[in-house]
Amino acid sequence: MNVLQTQIGLLNLESPLLTGSGTFGHDPAALAFLKGGDLGALVLKTVTPDPREGNPNPRMCEWTGGVMNSIGLENKGLSYWRDHVAPKLAATPVPVVANAGGHDLDEYGVMTAAFDAMEGVAAIELNLSCPNVKGGTHFSTDPEALQSVVRLCREQTTKPMWVKLSPNVASITPLAQAAEAAGADGLVVCNTVLGLLVDWKTRKPRLGNGYGGMSGPAVRPVAMRMVWECFRATQLPIIASGGASSADDVLDFVVAGATAVQVGTASFRRPDAISRIAEELRTVLAENDFTLDSLRGSLKWPSPVSCSGAASRTS
Ligand SMILES: Cc1cc2nc3c(=O)[nH]c(=O)nc-3n(C[C@H](O)[C@H](O)[C@H](O)COP(=O)(O)O)c2cc1C
Repeated sequence: MNVLQTQIGLLNLESPLLTGSGTFGHDPAALAFLKGGDLGALVLKTVTPDPREGNPNPRMCEWTGGVMNSIGLENKGLSYWRDHVAPKLAATPVPVVANAGGHDLDEYGVMTAAFDAMEGVAAIELNLSCPNVKGGTHFSTDPEALQSVVRLCREQTTKPMWVKLSPNVASITPLAQAAEAAGADGLVVCNTVLGLLVDWKTRKPRLGNGYGGMSGPAVRPVAMRMVWECFRATQLPIIASGGASSADDVLDFVVAGATAVQVGTASFRRPDAISRIAEELRTVLAENDFTLDSLRGSLKWPSPVSCSGAASRTS
């Protein structure tokens, strides 16, 4: 029996561990770092209809809490992807999740329809939440705007469609509920946390774009809170994203309500991080006689839960 077997809606995965978009190459080549059975799905970097150059250098830097990036959704655009990446996907040994970006409603619709038509794409992740591009946060901060884009994309595909939410909001609950009402099949919680690193010697920001998105261990408590809030507020499967680098981190997310966990920044430190975590997970689950299903959402809150506006999950 495979103790890591995971079901996200209709998608059957061999493991709850997924790559984080933009952190594991632009095509399936990076899979060579991982052992078979360890990765549940390969989530690829955001693609937009037109090519994007991204932000000025430097675009990544390390700090004590993890990494800051301001890549700015650099990508070669949809037609390049269709010609050069999509043909490789059907032979990929794990399900591939394509990640869609756009400037406006139409662009998200175009990307979703295009991914829907590609045989090798098992599911679609809508990146509504990039903090590093101009106008990149409109759909992730306004529930009505989010609902209209998710509804439009829903009309373009019957494939599983996940909505990647932003942590850069006062309350994630209305956004999670808007995604659910518009027909999302899952929530990815969450993208990077908007930040600023300064170098006092040069008097300049450390990133060429000024602001950047924080990822890695420092964002884990933020993502953990939001996973719990989304779990309480909706019936959707939650895919956690933010600072996971060990089996304990993954199980913490599961207890807070996650069905699966994306591993991003940890793969920069060690490209085989996902295989190491999978191995640890199998050991911990076997030693404790737990299943992922029995742990999911089992967080014991110290006092009556007060997630404002959140209805309790019934199942
Ligand atoms: C260098 C870098 C590039 C990223 N590119 C994307 C992207 O193209 N699309 C996206 O949805 N998220 C992108 N992300 C966000 C990650 O997928 C992930 O949500 C975030 O880093 C938090 O997870 P982590 O702490 O495990 O890295 C990027 C993150 C980093 C560090």
